Amino acid sequence: MVSRVIPVDPFDLVIFGGTGDLARRKILPGLFRRYCAGQIEGDVRITGAARGEMDTQGYRDFAAEAIMASDQSAGTKKAHLDEFLAMLHYVVVDAMGDDGWEELARITRSDRIRAFYFSVAPRLFGPLAERLHQHGLADGQTRIVVEKPFGRDLKTARELNRVLAEHFDESQIYRIDHYLGKETVQNLMAIRFGNMLFEPLWNSQYVDHIQITVAEAVGVGGRGDYYDRAGAMRDMMQNHLMQLLCLIAMEPPAKFNPDSVRDEKLKVIRALDPVAPDDVVRGQYEGSGGRPSYRNQVGNRDSTTESFVALRARVSNWRWAGTPFYLRTGKRLKERASEIAVVFKDAPHSIFGEEAGRHRNILTIKLQPNEGIELGVTIKEPGPGGMRLVDVPLDMTFAEALGPEEADFPDAYERLIMDVIRGNQTLFMRGDEVEEAWAWADEVIAGWEKRGDDPLPYATGSAGPDDALMLMHRDGRRWREIKA
Ligand code: NDP
Ligand code: BG6
Repeated sequence: MVSRVIPVDPFDLVIFGGTGDLARRKILPGLFRRYCAGQIEGDVRITGAARGEMDTQGYRDFAAEAIMASDQSAGTKKAHLDEFLAMLHYVVVDAMGDDGWEELARITRSDRIRAFYFSVAPRLFGPLAERLHQHGLADGQTRIVVEKPFGRDLKTARELNRVLAEHFDESQIYRIDHYLGKETVQNLMAIRFGNMLFEPLWNSQYVDHIQITVAEAVGVGGRGDYYDRAGAMRDMMQNHLMQLLCLIAMEPPAKFNPDSVRDEKLKVIRALDPVAPDDVVRGQYEGSGGRPSYRNQVGNRDSTTESFVALRARVSNWRWAGTPFYLRTGKRLKERASEIAVVFKDAPHSIFGEEAGRHRNILTIKLQPNEGIELGVTIKEPGPGGMRLVDVPLDMTFAEALGPEEADFPDAYERLIMDVIRGNQTLFMRGDEVEEAWAWADEVIAGWEKRGDDPLPYATGSAGPDDALMLMHRDGRRWREIKA
């Protein structure tokens, strides 16, 4: 099975913040991989733009280093690398000033798709939109890609939407949530809407509850400044986990096109109940074994920002009334392991008697690191010992099922940038979606701010604070183990 790579039309892409961490780790290596895959061809220009003094050759050297650091096999693709680097340019531009804009206008051509990637601090998103307009770069052909965070609450997100809408139509704005670019996340839609098997059972009559876990083993790293002002709720829950919840809970869209999908996701967010204060647990990691605590890492000894949040959400509609959604995410947890588990109800009556025990079907969609799907089914324990039941997984780890080459999925950023060039907004958030997600998150945050409670400490390498376990125990349920 060889997947088809359809080349995109030639384009000009400007990466504002082209020397930043994201460009270095994700955007440039991602573009290189798409080039190697044959998806980028023809007369393409990719321009890094930032304030730092550098010429085009300097930027090509910077990109080569970034690509080699992220892809150890890049050195063996020397011809490809040279060809790719020849597409790169650099312009010194200040988003807040007038420097460089004429040069940028000269270098990006108006007879082709022009995309401007805002990979800079969010306070620069508005000024960039304004200056693109002033310098005649905001025409109907232009697309802008806006990084996260998209606001820090409903008010700021609305304001940002308003500023962008002054110069760009919604169809030109690509708000990134890189979780939507992950292979398994898209597979979620294929599993649900491409199979007859699951959809009839996909409701509160058959589903006991749903768990969504996005666990990271890393701490806040070098992004402490940003993170300490955001916290897990704003950094992960409002966007990435919310998107996962939407894809799990939404009704089947009539078509797989941007607005049909986004309309259905929006309905889910609107159907979310406010989260009761008792249904939220926040945590903050402690240091251990020479690894710094959260407070040390962000350089704020009084910080009350959470690096972990767990909550119980309810989607109040016909499909889901009565089925809780348990969501949790955090840093410095046991392992990097993200999954969605759809836990089905017990069979209504056990013909095998009490001693056969309680068994449940669980459909697990493993997002990372080992992407795949696992369906837990109950069978008879082999052997002559009578009718004893045992749960076994029907395991489809993609790397095993498809072979390592087929399962070498493009990174989320690669896919999403190609979608921008193709003009496909399905995997990008619409303005109203982002605002609704903030309206929901704002209430949760306001709840704990009102109570004035501090996040609970948890040990590095644990599953978060014990209270998060209680969140499910008190409902007679338990979290699945965090394991890769
Ligand atoms: P960095 O701080 O590493 O880089 C910022 C970039 O912006 C640099 O290239 C900098 O270059 C440039 N820049 C700063 N001020 C200006 C200005 N006035 N005009 C033009 N360019 C400017 O940030 P990141 O790369 O980490 O993040 C970029 C965006 O991506 C942010 O919105 C962030 O939230 C988002 N993001 C980042 C992730 C990551 O892992 N890094 C993950 C998810 C989202 P110079 O100073 O020379 O101008
Ligand atoms: C980013 C968050 O959006 O996602 C980071 O800002 C987080 O804090 C990252 O580490 C996780 O992404 P992934 O793809 O590694 O799960």
